[in-house]
Amino acid sequence: MNIVKKIPLFLLAILMLSENMTAQNARIKIDIDRQIGEVDKNIYGNFVEHLGRCVYGGIYDEGNPLSDEDGIRLDVLEAVKGLNIPITRYPGGNFVSNYNWKDGVGPKDDRPVRMELAWARLESNRFGTNEFVDYARRMNTEPYFAVNMGTGTIKEAQEWVEYCNVKEGPYYAELRKKHGYPEPHNIKYWSLGNEMDGFWQMGHLNAEDYCKKAREAGKLMKLTDPNIKLIAAGASNFRPDNDPHEWNATVLSELKNVVDYIALHMYLGNHEDNYYNFVSAPLVLEERTRIVKGMIAREMEKADRGDRDPIYIAWDEYNIWYRWRAEETMTGTRALEERYNLEDALVIAGFLNAFIRNADVVKMANMAQLVNVIAPIFAEKEGIFLQTIYYPLQLFANNMFGTSLDVFVDCETYNTDKFQLGLAEQATQQNGVPYLDVSAAYNNGEVVIGVINRHKENSITTDILSQEGLFDGEFKIFEVNGPNIKAENNFDKTEVKTIQKESVKLKNEAGFTYEFPPHSFTMLKGKIIQ
Ligand code: AHR
Repeated sequence: MNIVKKIPLFLLAILMLSENMTAQNARIKIDIDRQIGEVDKNIYGNFVEHLGRCVYGGIYDEGNPLSDEDGIRLDVLEAVKGLNIPITRYPGGNFVSNYNWKDGVGPKDDRPVRMELAWARLESNRFGTNEFVDYARRMNTEPYFAVNMGTGTIKEAQEWVEYCNVKEGPYYAELRKKHGYPEPHNIKYWSLGNEMDGFWQMGHLNAEDYCKKAREAGKLMKLTDPNIKLIAAGASNFRPDNDPHEWNATVLSELKNVVDYIALHMYLGNHEDNYYNFVSAPLVLEERTRIVKGMIAREMEKADRGDRDPIYIAWDEYNIWYRWRAEETMTGTRALEERYNLEDALVIAGFLNAFIRNADVVKMANMAQLVNVIAPIFAEKEGIFLQTIYYPLQLFANNMFGTSLDVFVDCETYNTDKFQLGLAEQATQQNGVPYLDVSAAYNNGEVVIGVINRHKENSITTDILSQEGLFDGEFKIFEVNGPNIKAENNFDKTEVKTIQKESVKLKNEAGFTYEFPPHSFTMLKGKIIQ
């Protein structure tokens, strides 16, 4: 049971005076004046790649009774809508590095079937640019396209922008009209390739060659439509024999006047079955964010960007991916069908908290991927179920907006063989990783607080205090949890999900006490009045 106790003003004053005393309860202090940056809704983005059953047998399943006449799986679409996805990346991923967009437009029966070399399948091309744009409109998301910087040419990239964004006149704009789309698609976000630093990427380049090609592609694309935003492929190869920072430094230096975002990718896994290492791992994303933020700041001093914003970070692939990584689970039509449990859901909440805490520089993030392939939604021919990781993403994407706040957290900590806090944190806090991982945002008088209790066994009783203004009215509380850290969902059972807990009713309170249960993610939402 969650203990809820209100803290009157006089008691708060005593609590604050006794900062040096060992407090029994953990503390979360919310100060609406300590602002980090605006939360960009695009951090709740997603990703659709022609991989396994993400497209075919996922969002699109021609002839299935659960699909409509366009082949769109309606049960999947309903679940997709629940995630309130603002932006969706397409069509890859590794797939894009040998993809010719022209194969995927025009009458479906005339489209060529190709060998798909990234994930070893046949690509029918029955789903392509226009089908994706139609789908994106139905799910109310902004399409975000990646161009082929591997085997593709800068001219193909330019022609794709012309096909999508030019109203009329030139050949490819007219071709789109001939294909039944009189109005341009106006695709705003375009990434210049995918993971081009990776030796696994088809057409992999070294940093200098990538920058030359990306700069020229970007030039042609922007001459075609000056309103587009460009995303550079940042480092994805974090193997010990490689220096990812060198790649990022070159990309930022060479493309500092060209691109609007640098894309970073991260996949985590619990290979050694070590719970505390695993749930701490999103801290690595935060460290990489800080490093790239510093690199951006250095380049922005020398940049000539007119009135454009500085370069931001797009974590345009993130997720948990380690079970389906052996050769036979990496290829074919059932590739990467990872099944998730509660600890995975807590790691996803950790990623999302980290994006919020770095809202000044992280302006886009895309969970990889949407359906079946390392995904929050799992579909078979007969139906779907929602994986554990669906729930934290759904809570964030429907609630956490506004200005990100720099939250003070004081709680017990732990150390693992892999994680102790970095030097900066050690200067101000106890050494160790806090059991409570917290983010918060303030929006028009309303505060939303996201709290992971990473403790496997213990609940943590916490005073939640407002430094500026008072908590008032009904605080809604949502909890993602399950019977144990390995609990999973499938077609027959939903062990991990969001439960709306009893609200806390507050009247001009300086704080309240809440007990966060073990291995849980809790979102609290209510008003602060001045
Ligand atoms: O999301 C799966 C794959 O992971 C993507 O295709 C690639 O970009 C990354 O390595």
